[in-house]
Amino acid sequence: MKFFIDTANLDQIREAQNLGILDGVTTNPSLMAKEGISGKAAIMQHYKTICEIVDGDISAEVLSTTYDEMIKEGEELAAIHPNIVVKIPMIKDGLKVLKYFSDNGIRTNCTLIFSSGQALLAAKAGANYVSPFLGRLDDVSTDGLNLIEEIRRIYDNYMFETEILAASIRNSMHIINCAKLGADVITSPLAPILSLLNHPLTDKGLEQFIADSKKMI
Ligand code: E4P
Repeated sequence: MKFFIDTANLDQIREAQNLGILDGVTTNPSLMAKEGISGKAAIMQHYKTICEIVDGDISAEVLSTTYDEMIKEGEELAAIHPNIVVKIPMIKDGLKVLKYFSDNGIRTNCTLIFSSGQALLAAKAGANYVSPFLGRLDDVSTDGLNLIEEIRRIYDNYMFETEILAASIRNSMHIINCAKLGADVITSPLAPILSLLNHPLTDKGLEQFIADSKKMI
């Protein structure tokens, strides 16, 4: 399973990269705005910087919602670096853009997926990734993990190559459960990834080993 970090914060991206387990980065307009990135030049430069830090797929989301504008914007984003994956919203024009980019060699991530029907359409259109939003489904009392399971089954039935990129991850159990269900990728903020490291018995055991090692020296 690939690990992506879901942030536009360069310090957190560097920290995750330094762990040695990072495979890519996802961003969205809210995450970019949170870092104070505004204006086309700054947006382009920020994606370029992320591509220089991480050697893996970097999702960059279009800001427009009409076919022609998304094509233009997506082509500009894809030209920044070969690792850029253009993130397209799951809307009717978005579906057509996914197909156009798939036919023209630009890689895509279809975002804002909340149902298996949407994931099926995105795969039919040739999306490289689909991003089902687990946490936001959980927020409205719907089990987000069920969606991952359904999409996995559908894609396996027909051998779709679209990768399931589980998004809107809120905690380490989301990551573990996505791994159990066969998600191809998780994209998570840094904290849930770091919390996978923790176990009180590891801390207790290490404390004992350190104490005992002093008796050996
Ligand atoms: C996906 O690519 C999105 O950036 C993200 O996972 C959304 O997560 P949120 O629901 O925590 O905003």
